[in-house]
Amino acid sequence: MKTAIVTGTSSGIGLAICQKLIDRGYRVYGLARNFTKTEWDHPHFHKMVCDVSCTRELSSTVRKIRQEQKEIHVLVNNAGIGYFGPHETLKPEEIEAMVATNLQAPLILTRLLLNDIKRNRGWIINISSITAQKSATHGCAYAATKAGLTHFGISLFDEIRKTGAKVVTLHPDIVQTPFYDHLDFKEGEEPDSYITAQCVADAVETVLNQREGTVLTEMTIRPQLHRITKKKRGKS
Ligand SMILES: NC(=O)c1ccc[n+]([C@@H]2O[C@H](COP(=O)([O-])OP(=O)(O)OC[C@H]3O[C@@H](n4cnc5c(N)ncnc54)[C@H](OP(=O)(O)O)[C@@H]3O)[C@@H](O)[C@H]2O)c1
Repeated sequence: MKTAIVTGTSSGIGLAICQKLIDRGYRVYGLARNFTKTEWDHPHFHKMVCDVSCTRELSSTVRKIRQEQKEIHVLVNNAGIGYFGPHETLKPEEIEAMVATNLQAPLILTRLLLNDIKRNRGWIINISSITAQKSATHGCAYAATKAGLTHFGISLFDEIRKTGAKVVTLHPDIVQTPFYDHLDFKEGEEPDSYITAQCVADAVETVLNQREGTVLTEMTIRPQLHRITKKKRGKS
């Protein structure tokens, strides 16, 4: 049985990707801070409580996984957090949390697992964002972390492609998940105005289904319509 490590697996896209990987026969180690958000369980889903923004915790979690598994085949860097608004309204701690979670953690986790992924001709799948591809007013810092992640993935693929390892970057547009719970906007009401966590998990499956030798290095997933809903309450 192959082993995958996925970050941000207590809700949303990360949880849907875990379920998809387990359906495909993987054993999945999922990292998140608070698993009380989900009741979903499976004998092949190993919940690892870990704050990925803390390098010490991340390294010790990888050490614990290594005590149980010799080989890692897939890494999905999915954990992420977003704070939005005019840049001068963001708290320094919010900027720090976004950089540490969305960019620093994937770079470090990839460093810790890269030899395994290369040896196993495996996969690194980074969940970036459409904001990495365009100007993102009121999301300048968030988009900067995602643009960094995208650029890292593109460069890393060129660096390691000859080993057989694959690096894939997904660029979802607005996904209906708890990501927006603390924000003052969310996806539009119409089903055509958002994509679902399942759609992103399906994209991961498409990526994994390519023949050996073909790599979908980047994929953008967008809803048909461009709509958001402004919430009445401000940021909580
Ligand atoms: N929703 C969208 O519209 C959208 C669009 C494009 C890209 N994305 C990206 O997709 C990824 C998943 O987001 P989502 O939409 O599925 O939102 P979500 O439901 O809020 O999921 C975020 C996940 O990341 C985890 N996480 C956050 N900070 C963490 C930390 N410091 N350590 C460990 N885990 C942490 C959360 O778990 P805990 O809180 O339990 O730690 C949660 O499991 C993010 O990278 C996000 O930027 C989302």
